[in-house]
Amino acid sequence: MKKIVYFDAAASFLKPESVILAGIDFLRNRYANAGRGVCARAGWVDDMVERVRARVARFINAAVNQVVFVSNATDGLNRVAHIIERNFDIAGFSVAVSDLDHHSARLPWQELLRLGKIRKEIVCDLDENFDIKIDSVPKTDVLVITAMSNVLGRAQDVEKIISVARKRNPDVITIVDATQYIVHKKIDVQSWGADFVVASGHKIGADTGVGILYIRNPDKYSPDKFGGGMVMRVADTGMILNESPECFEAGTLPLTQICGLGVAIDELEKSRPDLDLIKYMYDELDKNKRIKILTVRDSALLSFVVDGMHPLDFGAIMGANDICLRVGNMCASWIHRVLGVDGSVRVSVGPWNTKSDADKFLSVVNKIVK
Ligand SMILES: Cc1ncc(COP(=O)(O)O)c(C=O)c1O
Repeated sequence: MKKIVYFDAAASFLKPESVILAGIDFLRNRYANAGRGVCARAGWVDDMVERVRARVARFINAAVNQVVFVSNATDGLNRVAHIIERNFDIAGFSVAVSDLDHHSARLPWQELLRLGKIRKEIVCDLDENFDIKIDSVPKTDVLVITAMSNVLGRAQDVEKIISVARKRNPDVITIVDATQYIVHKKIDVQSWGADFVVASGHKIGADTGVGILYIRNPDKYSPDKFGGGMVMRVADTGMILNESPECFEAGTLPLTQICGLGVAIDELEKSRPDLDLIKYMYDELDKNKRIKILTVRDSALLSFVVDGMHPLDFGAIMGANDICLRVGNMCASWIHRVLGVDGSVRVSVGPWNTKSDADKFLSVVNKIVK
């Protein structure tokens, strides 16, 4: 197979060999459904799901009944909006968002606004570093916080933002999109104090199809999805729900992906992406007058625009040179608008990347951007 430089970890992480092997072993030797069988094999799968749930809980400092498996961050963020819609009278609600948001974090609320189901959207101010301006966090009913932008790669002070929001409104419902943050930083949901936190498995080395949804008070909410596995008993007069997390997990879970998720977390905790590579490429690109870097040197990502070259053209040339990176608006239109560009080029690294990958990238850039 052709050797490529994969600088697109932030779009999707490459899979560690141990994750691939765990998936193969599960599919070949241990496969059965979870929560439905009584044979030993089904018991192993039930135990595996709960083992991985406990691993996720330890990873983010949650309790096991607060960890729900969803399909990905987008699914988690949409489900949180539905859970809130079902459990609160949202007609008068204001929802605060920020221009750091990924489309997946903000569009579910914009859709509720468009349908006239919530009262208004408030956009949080950003400071001169494009961080959420903590002093001006507004009084609001719902607050969506992007813990790390997928374009700028800077960690937000989630704990402080939530504490200011709670001072303004003790009942504020806080939702944290931790999809990029979780790759680079240890998460402690208890010190954050958020009501909901979401992340995607495929961005930390698991397969696509599994995501993490943390719910601080799962017993407070009725579920948003109904079907097999979430109900204890159905009677003529209604149903008795299982407790959390099962009541939020209607239908068959993505078992192979869950199996890999536990292994992926072990791997990520052993080796996080080496951000010195980002600093190295930053310093080198900074010497090129035609390149305008949008991120700061100690960011988790390197985003930039090239004077006189469309990001898509740049990406195509890099692709033709076996270098994979992300170009375009990256599902983050708002921050691009703030930065005054339609799109950008993003380099993101994973534990597999080396200095020689960076040197290959830089040599191609220096050849095409003179
Ligand atoms: C910050 C952020 N939030 C949400 C998402 C959506 O993730 P997924 O496509 O895995 O649902 C992404 C994906 O790029 C992201 O970077």
